[in-house]
Amino acid sequence: MGIYIHIPFCKQKCHYCDFHFSTSLKNKEDLISCLLKEIEIQKSYLNEEIVETIYFGGGTPSFLDALEIRKILDEVYAQFAVISNPEITLEGNPDDFTFQKLQELKQAGINRLSIGIQSFNDTDLIWMNRAHNASQATKCVQDAQNLGFDNVTIDLIYGLPEMTLEAWKMNLQKALDLNVQHISAYNLTVEPETTLHHLVKTGKSKPLNDAAGAEQFEVLINTLEKNKFKHYEISSFGKEGYFSKHNSSYWKRKFYLGIGPSAHSFNGNTRQWNVANNSKYIKAIKVGEVPLELEELSESDRYNEYILLGLRTIWGCEFDYIKSEFGEERLHTLKQQLLNCSHQMNIDEQSFSLNKKGKAFADHIASELFV
Ligand SMILES: C[S@@+](CC[C@H](N)C(=O)[O-])C[C@H]1O[C@@H](n2cnc3c(N)ncnc32)[C@H](O)[C@@H]1O
Ligand code: SF4
Repeated sequence: MGIYIHIPFCKQKCHYCDFHFSTSLKNKEDLISCLLKEIEIQKSYLNEEIVETIYFGGGTPSFLDALEIRKILDEVYAQFAVISNPEITLEGNPDDFTFQKLQELKQAGINRLSIGIQSFNDTDLIWMNRAHNASQATKCVQDAQNLGFDNVTIDLIYGLPEMTLEAWKMNLQKALDLNVQHISAYNLTVEPETTLHHLVKTGKSKPLNDAAGAEQFEVLINTLEKNKFKHYEISSFGKEGYFSKHNSSYWKRKFYLGIGPSAHSFNGNTRQWNVANNSKYIKAIKVGEVPLELEELSESDRYNEYILLGLRTIWGCEFDYIKSEFGEERLHTLKQQLLNCSHQMNIDEQSFSLNKKGKAFADHIASELFV
């Protein structure tokens, strides 16, 4: 099982982003103390299961210094049983990852870096309101590799309104030249209440071009698969042995505990999520309460989640599991439904997953199979 720790601070607001973060650092010390306290309060959530992965996400975890990260890790080790060589990922931005910072993070125990590059093209980066430029992005990956980080993943975004196929191919080539172990590539979405949403609504940015995004997705898959990457989840490509263990546990519906404002947790029967507000989070934790909302999952919720998450991955969904968890009748109905989308699926005796044609419509196909 895994522990996720949300670091809710960013230097500046990227135009497309609706993750929870604050650009004000006035609560930083308090917030870190509360993360430590929440780890202690939640120590029984996972029923003594052993922690296999730890993930610092954000926001921008690279905004913290290595000592602060180490303090949080020490508290996890103090409260939980952790396997001897856990995957410990830290997300961050190239402008924070100086050579010295990378060195300190490695000493602090980070063994997997997730670097938010988004694009190797300065025009794209300015359009996104990123705090770094393309040469910082390249240098940061090279510095990390020179320091011995041997499990590096980078984030890229495609489907920008003005992005040409040529520009996307160039981005992919630059990513391949860096010889990283893993790439996450996301199709840009326009989220409500983001600056991008406002820009599109007021005509200051072109709307997304879905057809161009779909073409870029296809080129993404073909290019990376030709270069030893396995497309193991809709947005995730890893070389053999380098799939994200932490994120895979979400898709395989393993249990996880989320610490920090806006963090989500899952224990098989319920999902819960902490308040997405730093001040409210701090106020509650200080009096020993975790400010969260909780949802009990019904049988249909669990079934729908299983289909949705399974179809995003190469492991797909297993017939035996569906029969044992949801009954023979459900399995029978599903098999009938699959006849309608068999051209978008790989189906065998044991399982079904999306084929190349289906991958572009993963969420839509899953929703067609929901109860
Ligand atoms: C929450 S960010 C955290 C990492 C770090 N702060 C950064 O900016 O790289 C995780 C990733 O989600 C992706 N992302 C966030 N909003 C997105 C959007 N609206 N469309 C597509 N990708 C998005 C970006 O690639 C980003 O790196
Ligand atoms: S993409 Fe990353 S750096 Fe940009 S606002 Fe979102 S969390 Fe912060």
